[in-house]
Amino acid sequence: MTIEKLAVAGFDHFLAYLNDHLSDNGRGDTAYFQPLPRDASHFPAEKAEAFRNGLQIEVGQPGWRRVWVARDQAGAIAGHIDLRGLPENYTKHRCLLGMGVHRTHRQRGLGSQLIAHAENWALLAGVQWVDLQVLSVNAPAIQLYERCGYRKTGEIPNMFLLDGKHYSYTYMTRRLR
Ligand SMILES: CC(C)(COP(=O)(O)OP(=O)(O)OC[C@H]1O[C@@H](n2cnc3c(N)ncnc32)[C@H](O)[C@@H]1OP(=O)(O)O)[C@@H](O)C(=O)NCCC(=O)NCCS
Repeated sequence: MTIEKLAVAGFDHFLAYLNDHLSDNGRGDTAYFQPLPRDASHFPAEKAEAFRNGLQIEVGQPGWRRVWVARDQAGAIAGHIDLRGLPENYTKHRCLLGMGVHRTHRQRGLGSQLIAHAENWALLAGVQWVDLQVLSVNAPAIQLYERCGYRKTGEIPNMFLLDGKHYSYTYMTRRLR
């Protein structure tokens, strides 16, 4: 498995992977991991352009975003992690983390490897805190984050109404330095 930064040229391929990944959301054994109803579990087309552009925005400037993908031996995407700036002003020392591992590659340590990879980059980029939000029902992700040193900072009960049920939202953070 290799982990590499996503280049703009690879974005369309990445988006296809991401939409396949999102199709697991709230289905079968997979807990909801995105606050989207099952039938709307795809990356919103209107946000795709901002995502693509963010890859080229200087770190610290509004809208910046970086993505790393893990590739298997055949070159297929096996997992991803992304870091982006917070929307609020005066938060350049922080970033937001999002991630996922392809259904056929889970529970083999790839999620932990992706977090370590992104955090190393963030440290070099001068980021001091990594924040994230996770649906409270997503036990695998919360366990992964806790194992990697993330601590809960808050929770909004019943924040989302998805497919007729309420879901709470957990906020977590890790200080890198
Ligand atoms: C959450 C997710 C990224 C974990 O990735 P992964 O590659 O399977 O994680 P790892 O193999 O590195 O697991 C590391 C630790 O996470 C926890 N963990 C991972 N999967 C778990 C599961 N299904 N149940 C319980 N704990 C789990 C364990 O503590 C594990 O350590 P251990 O193997 O020593 O027990 C993956 O399940 C996934 O992509 N889920 C759907 C998308 C998602 O939830 N994204 C995060 C949104 S906030």
